[in-house]
Amino acid sequence: MAKNLASRPILFAVTAAAVILVGTIVTMFVPMFTVSMHPRLDSLKPYTALQLAGRDIYQREGCNNCHTQEIRPLKTEVMRYGEYSKAGEFANDRPFLWGSKRTGPDIARVGSKYPDAWHIQHFKDPRAVVAISIMPVYGWMADYKLDPARAESHMKANGFPYTADDIAQLASKTELDALIAYMQQLGTAVKKVPVAVASSGIAVKDIVNPKAGDAAAITLGSKLFADKCAMCHGEDGKGGIGPSVVDDVFFSIPGDLPDGDYQEVINNGIHPGQLEEGRVATGTMPDFASEISQDEIWSTVAYIRSLQGKK
Ligand code: HEC
Ligand code: HEC
Repeated sequence: MAKNLASRPILFAVTAAAVILVGTIVTMFVPMFTVSMHPRLDSLKPYTALQLAGRDIYQREGCNNCHTQEIRPLKTEVMRYGEYSKAGEFANDRPFLWGSKRTGPDIARVGSKYPDAWHIQHFKDPRAVVAISIMPVYGWMADYKLDPARAESHMKANGFPYTADDIAQLASKTELDALIAYMQQLGTAVKKVPVAVASSGIAVKDIVNPKAGDAAAITLGSKLFADKCAMCHGEDGKGGIGPSVVDDVFFSIPGDLPDGDYQEVINNGIHPGQLEEGRVATGTMPDFASEISQDEIWSTVAYIRSLQGKK
């Protein structure tokens, strides 16, 4: 049989074509129409009209030439950026904006990492926030209003349903508003799991800062504060995008909290609605547990205490 087939060129060509066709159908078309091959996370929300308009701007500006939106399941990436990306997070994305080059960091989980005010300042003057940044300035976007007609044509092309009211409301928003709305939802379909910090089993109020009053630690703390915290809390700790850390107010309520609570919020970050000793957070702050060591965190607390004139 094999000899016969090999010696008949036309039959051989037809058989080969048929085998390749079956292979193509099985490997391409079957997955295309198999629902389980198109996962969608239950927690994934459709884009609001404003977020979708922001996504268009992200494409227009080619932000994906410098930023990826895909965290690989590698330990180093998960430590730096957060939980690795899931296929089901991208079900609403047409086209995907994963990118392939990281001149800047991956921003797949940047949603709710920073307050809006941080983004405004960062887009207007990246160097004011991160001194060594090479990101271009995008502050001019604040001067351009969105064009609802343009947004609508993009929505229609992608088959996304929005009401006339949703679209009309875009007219009062700027391109910068839209881009920030898009940034703030990135990666939020996957719930953030705070980095586990070994618990000492001691009640927060009884935790003692091992670096309290230590002169070397305070010097280290002041360097860390200038590098990681001053962008939001001000050079002198008196506030800016974030609140003052040198007053007697914690989460907007008068009365200071113990060192253990400082350590906790610096480790885990802050998200609106978060509770700390019964006080509710309204703001957003990044977590630092995977960025700086526990000794360094205690050193920043010792530095903040020295600014407050306390030990
Ligand atoms: C030339 C490359 C480049 C381009 C283009 C660029 N960025 Fe960046 N971006 C960077 C670099 C480098 C950083 C890290 C330093 C910093 O935070 O400014 C960064 C940081 C960021 C961050 C903060 C990430 C974090 O986790 O701290 C966001 C958000 C961001 N960029 C969004 C954008 C958006 C949106 C655009 C398009 C409008 C854009 N970038 C265009 C290079 C770029
Ligand atoms: C991107 C901005 C941002 C950065 C960076 C940041 N914070 Fe915050 N931080 C905030 C915001 C916003 C709050 C207020 C949360 C609230 O009250 O709802 C806050 C609250 C706090 C609080 C609670 C005290 C209070 O008065 O409410 C402490 C302590 C704190 N930050 C310390 C730090 C330290 C230390 C660093 C650096 C390692 C840091 N923060 C970096 C934004 C930031």
